[in-house]
Amino acid sequence: MPTSKMAALAPSGLQWDTLEQRKHQGENLYYQIYVWKLQQLPADVHRFCDPELPAPRRKELLHMLRSLEEDSSCQRLQILFSFSVPSPQVLELLCSLRLPLVSAGAGTGYWEYLLQRLGLDVVSFDQNSIFPSEMRYTEVMTGGPELLEHFPDRALFLAWPDADESSRFSLDCLSYFRGQTLFHVGELLGETMSSNPWGQSTSRDFQLALAEDFCCVKRLKLPSWPGQVDWFSMWRRKSSQLVLCDGAHFQYVETQVETNNQL
Ligand SMILES: C[S@@+](CC[C@H](N)C(=O)[O-])C[C@H]1O[C@@H](n2cnc3c(N)ncnc32)[C@H](O)[C@@H]1O
Repeated sequence: MPTSKMAALAPSGLQWDTLEQRKHQGENLYYQIYVWKLQQLPADVHRFCDPELPAPRRKELLHMLRSLEEDSSCQRLQILFSFSVPSPQVLELLCSLRLPLVSAGAGTGYWEYLLQRLGLDVVSFDQNSIFPSEMRYTEVMTGGPELLEHFPDRALFLAWPDADESSRFSLDCLSYFRGQTLFHVGELLGETMSSNPWGQSTSRDFQLALAEDFCCVKRLKLPSWPGQVDWFSMWRRKSSQLVLCDGAHFQYVETQVETNNQL
């Protein structure tokens, strides 16, 4: 049974106490909870960091978002599921591309589980020191970025890999990754409410290195919890060969994204 008032108020189809309930036979329960939850939150919730709002109200709003004692606080849901909410459109796009994935820093493996249930070939790894096995939705191998050397034929899936700006994890993943396609889930430069312009998901060094060697060929907005500006983006590796074209250097990259659907 749900333990908090908020969870008890949730519609009967939305129960997330146990892993089995959260797995929801492979349906995207987290997205349904997100839609419901945003209807419950007060209209001023996005102002939790607005200095014009009186401090006691800001404190209340922050509590709603981040208290781990509240069953349906956004932070608690993010720990139980994943930092970003998978949208049906992005899951559909990933499936229609049919690229086998290797997910680095998969956490609970929620995105990876949904994609596997939709028929995609996904392998995942994490250092597995934060999320215990009973919280995981799928198999998550234990390991670090060096594992990527074993998966040159897969696209790299990176969702919120860096806990803070000092983390080298995303950059190390990029150094070990030999594949052609990378998917980034989270915030990017200049699209964040964080005081760090690079956002809360991947470090400055990673984003600069990514833009050096890869070109963004597709972006879709993700559902975002208050305080986050989440995007799904697809990046393709540029040819390492510079070609001089009418006085300017270019690096070829295929920018067309072919899918089975009209996305
Ligand atoms: C912020 S969590 C994001 C988890 C998940 N991708 C999500 O979007 O919810 C970052 C994850 O990266 C993992 N991680 C950080 N450094 C790592 C490393 N050096 N090797 C493997 N995993 C690492 C952590 O264990 C954690 O599960």
